[in-house]
Amino acid sequence: MRVPVIAGNWKMYLTPEEGRDMVVALGPLLAACRGREIVVCPPFTALATVATGLVGSNVRLGAQNMHAAPEGAFTGEIAAGMLKALGCAYVILGHSERRQHFCETDAMVAEKTRAALAADLIPIICVGETLIQRENGITQPVVEIQVRGALTGLPPEQLRRVIIAYEPVWAIGTGRTASATDAQNGCAFIRSVVRALDTGAADLVRILYGGSVKPENVQELMNGTDIDGALVGGASLKADSFARIVRYEEQ
Ligand code: PGA
Repeated sequence: MRVPVIAGNWKMYLTPEEGRDMVVALGPLLAACRGREIVVCPPFTALATVATGLVGSNVRLGAQNMHAAPEGAFTGEIAAGMLKALGCAYVILGHSERRQHFCETDAMVAEKTRAALAADLIPIICVGETLIQRENGITQPVVEIQVRGALTGLPPEQLRRVIIAYEPVWAIGTGRTASATDAQNGCAFIRSVVRALDTGAADLVRILYGGSVKPENVQELMNGTDIDGALVGGASLKADSFARIVRYEEQ
């Protein structure tokens, strides 16, 4: 049985104070929520205050990116061990905004994945096709290259720990959610790629859907048998809407 994961990606929003206030408001809304992993991923600058706001709560902390090296002369970068020291348990890697605006390649995502696992962080690896790729009918090869690029060569015990997020680029921040069928098909395809790498891992790896997830559509998406959770952007910034998404079966 795969434990569902609902993760909020705050992107470049919320100051340290706003972030702490958000999770302080979120805590009581989710205190009774069992049977899932709940994660918030604030900007680096808010990790420390959000960590204090999460003390005693069942919500865990994640980051949105990291550098692959353990330390070094990399101005402006943050290492996995630094995130761990701030209380992070997860890190988002290879988000389409990083691939698009910061030239992240599959090779970089692979290196970061290994560094995250070595630092005992759970990577949430994002994959997904652009609109043009979808219209050209190459969704599956694009996604397969991204998944294989990140995971090939990982030892089985590490492969089983990763989380993959299927985020069609055209559905991110656009209000245009993939249909529940498209989301399920995308996640099922990713599971088949994982199965080809390691049969045993395929039934253990959590695969999330991301892209315009809201309280109104989360339950239908979660009905997909291969969808093990959601990576939520815009709707994760307010305690009320994020809590409604986490409590998806009550919608
Ligand atoms: P969105 O973002 O929910 O605002 O579409 C999702 C993401 O980028 O992870």
